[in-house]
Amino acid sequence: MSKMIVKAPVVQQREIAKSVYQLTLHSPELTQQAVPGQFIHLRVTENYQPLLRRPLSISSVNRDAGTLSTIYRIVGQGTMQLSTFKTDAIIDCMGPLGKGFDLQCHTPLLIGGGMGLAPLVFLAQRLCPRPLEILMGGRNEQELFWQTVYRDICDKIHITTDDGSLGRRGFTVDILPDLLDKGTFDRIYACGPRPMLEAIAAIAKQFAIPCQVSLEEHMACGVGACLSCTCAGTDGKRRKVCTDGPVFWAGEVFG
Ligand code: FES
Repeated sequence: MSKMIVKAPVVQQREIAKSVYQLTLHSPELTQQAVPGQFIHLRVTENYQPLLRRPLSISSVNRDAGTLSTIYRIVGQGTMQLSTFKTDAIIDCMGPLGKGFDLQCHTPLLIGGGMGLAPLVFLAQRLCPRPLEILMGGRNEQELFWQTVYRDICDKIHITTDDGSLGRRGFTVDILPDLLDKGTFDRIYACGPRPMLEAIAAIAKQFAIPCQVSLEEHMACGVGACLSCTCAGTDGKRRKVCTDGPVFWAGEVFG
């Protein structure tokens, strides 16, 4: 699968929660190739300040309309600048990048923590019409605006919040063993903070359920050249998250 650089017009940019934006770009070329789990790398200014592109996961694709969306939180100068792009502005966009999810399953469970829920939207769309359950976690009710995003795609939504303001108080991994006990899941897909993914990988192993994780690492080049995104594999070799991932089988990166 080949990557490309396109000048993509902004179709829509809207704030969907506090400091969280959904950006929709028009690029029939990218939408034809993109698969769930991949990301795009956006140049947010013409004057190279900030210098580096911003890697953002693809959160949905509409092939008929030739559009793709990403959902991001403002966390620094780059994403702040990105949020100022209005309809019809042109964004220099490289993609689709990285390796996506393996879709060979019948009864998947999706698990997302915080902004890790962004790439799973595209995955959920592609997994339909399989029966879909999702377990989502966040700090509080405000962070879990995601339930409105997933309401029409998933059959069942399980929620945890750190403060108990929505769903069960605690972390996703607190209720995961119970869900796996009661369910008949043949695949787990997870994205979120690394400690959460590590705990999910351990539980999935215990239940002998194949698990794929999407890692969120700091990235610079996005194409395997700078080594800024490497992580240790369980075989002792380094993995580049941008090109070997960001999606890995859990056993590749967690013991
Ligand atoms: Fe440069 Fe991965 S971001 S090698």
